Amino acid sequence: MARAQARYVCQECGSASAKWSGRCEDCGGWNTIVEEAAAAPVGAQARSRGSARIIELGDLGARGAARAHLATGNREFDRVVGGGLVEGSALLVGGDPGIGKSTLLLQVAAAIASQGRRAVYISGEEAADQVRLRADRLGLAGAPVELGAATSTADIVRTLERGRPPDFVVIDSIQTMWDDRIDSAPGSVAQVRASAQSLIRFAKERGSCVVLVGHVTKDGQIAGPRVVEHMVDAVLYFEGDRGHRFRILRGVKNRYGPTDEIGVFDMTGRGLAEVENPSALFIATRDRGAPGAAVFAGLEGSRPLLVEIQALVAPSPLGTPRRAVVGADQARLSMILAVLEARCGVSLAGRDVYLNVAGGLRIQEPAADLAVAAALLSSLYGTALDDGAVWFGEISLSGALRPVAQTAARLKEAAKLGFSEAVLPSADELAGEATGAIALRPVEDLAGLVAGLSRARE
Ligand code: TYD
Ligand code: MG
Repeated sequence: MARAQARYVCQECGSASAKWSGRCEDCGGWNTIVEEAAAAPVGAQARSRGSARIIELGDLGARGAARAHLATGNREFDRVVGGGLVEGSALLVGGDPGIGKSTLLLQVAAAIASQGRRAVYISGEEAADQVRLRADRLGLAGAPVELGAATSTADIVRTLERGRPPDFVVIDSIQTMWDDRIDSAPGSVAQVRASAQSLIRFAKERGSCVVLVGHVTKDGQIAGPRVVEHMVDAVLYFEGDRGHRFRILRGVKNRYGPTDEIGVFDMTGRGLAEVENPSALFIATRDRGAPGAAVFAGLEGSRPLLVEIQALVAPSPLGTPRRAVVGADQARLSMILAVLEARCGVSLAGRDVYLNVAGGLRIQEPAADLAVAAALLSSLYGTALDDGAVWFGEISLSGALRPVAQTAARLKEAAKLGFSEAVLPSADELAGEATGAIALRPVEDLAGLVAGLSRARE
């Protein structure tokens, strides 16, 4: 028999090639290619003798309606998945280690179990006792969640197939799972792919909703769950800064619902609290009525996010005043200061300028210009901005305001987070999009903003 041929698989993107190279041709990653023994086709029963079932599109009606979204009871989670879980679907929940994925999913499992539905939580990272201790700490010890500690997908599927099919299964995490038909180590792309495949097949066959947890590391040492993203029905990312309390759950893919929803949680001593009014979380750390703060309605990729921008303008004892920036681009600040001086006659020479993006976030968008300028002017004039307003718009060197992408998404997010007004470039046309409960205050150019704010000072 011929020796099984080795394949070289990029651990970042999963692309396979016949020879090793230092750089993946598909994703451009360096040193990401690893030799893997060619796998026996996963799940192949010797030879298939069944037939594929084909139905007419019209017949889908009744079945489609049966695919209802079942609310988990965790409102922020439900919002992100489009109202609830769909039976027979597979989800991937990704995020940095330690961000709170296990905590969130244990809470969701408990919410489902306490409705009398069957929820199973399989941990490949912690012993069942450890999970129980965590549940105790979360005040969930009474919830009838079935806990298991296992890493073999074959064992897990066999166990889950006994009895009533579970409504909800958490696999924490997909990187710890292994399929004994595959030679490579747990966490490699081949293992992650094969394990995900058998768990997803289980979900489709038994009508359970299976959630796969995936760690995403910045340096990509662990096989990225990116390969899994294409296999599942929905991908959610759990994000936040560990130094801060808030966490955001975002949908980035959803075959059964919207992808522009976010869920906001507060990491407390007793787990993740749903944040009913997310603006409360941001406002809690906001000095209402204090000059120098503007809320920016931003976007991260295609995903909207509100951030508070803080500025402090103070007389400088130094010959060369300080320009300190945390969480934003230094060059961008210099440009805005120059435009304020050259186009609007606002001189900040002789003053130190500090700029900070609250919450430990980092902003790269030029759309933040208007919020930065507003925060600077507010601090300079010593007058607070309207705390129900969000700001966005790009400032050009002429001082004109330029429209930014995805205005509707920013406004939707601002309205959802409880804001009532948006200051934005007047050229920004909302092609008939409903703007909800938010009032628009268009601004022509930076000089107009300066005039408005200095008038408000009097
Ligand atoms: P965890 O859910 O284990 O993260 P992940 O599964 O994403 O790796 O959460 C770990 C962090 O959450 C840990 O640093 C402690 C913190 N935490 C709380 O602050 N409060 C809690 O009630 C719990 C359970 C965890
Ligand atoms: Mg965990």
